[in-house]
Amino acid sequence: MAAKEIPGYAYGDKQLATAPYTLKDLEALKATVLFTDKDAKWLRISRKVLEPHAEEILDTWYGFVGSTPHLLHYFSNDKGKVDSNYLARVRARFIQWIYDTADAKYDQSWLDYQYEIGIRHHRLGKNKTDNAKAVEHIPFRYVVALTYPVTATLKPFLERSTYSPEEVNAMHQAWIKSVLMQTILWSYPYTKQGDF
Ligand code: HEM
Repeated sequence: MAAKEIPGYAYGDKQLATAPYTLKDLEALKATVLFTDKDAKWLRISRKVLEPHAEEILDTWYGFVGSTPHLLHYFSNDKGKVDSNYLARVRARFIQWIYDTADAKYDQSWLDYQYEIGIRHHRLGKNKTDNAKAVEHIPFRYVVALTYPVTATLKPFLERSTYSPEEVNAMHQAWIKSVLMQTILWSYPYTKQGDF
């Protein structure tokens, strides 16, 4: 599906709020997690490797969330009924997120969308995009924690390529750093004003 046609996907949308952090802040964050231009290069290379497996990657991630009741909770209503429409709509945006992460554009539009994705996990914006009736807020501890399963389960997919183990490792490390940076940017609505 073309990105523009994905319901609720808003990267590049002019209506989005400007992120409260700047591209200069992003450069300092990159330096702090040791993210260099080489990592950006390996992320971009990873797109071709991962793209053919995107559905399977989502099956793996959703398999984990779906079999972990305290996570599936956030796709469910207050009576514990899972909202399959909500899951499906988020899934389509999650696939696009793989491509956006691999493209590593790190421009103002990307930064603004990071701010929006953080809001969408928080009670400020959760459920609104899909008009879902699910639990209203995801605790931030789980957002950071998911960095590990999301990136660890990616490695076997990166290995399905002609790249050497060292090159696969370089792609994997770049992914770990990028997802970590993103979850840090998503923390903004969760932190007390002035503490981010
Ligand atoms: C939305 C990634 C943590 C539940 C999303 C989206 C992405 C994403 C890409 C769609 C953003 C968009 O609208 O374009 C991630 C990553 C995480 C993470 C990479 C951590 C490394 C979590 C956790 C939960 C969760 C821990 C808890 C189950 C959800 C839900 C939505 C969502 C319910 C839909 C929010 C809405 O109503 O718009 N996530 N997520 N996510 N995620 Fe996460």
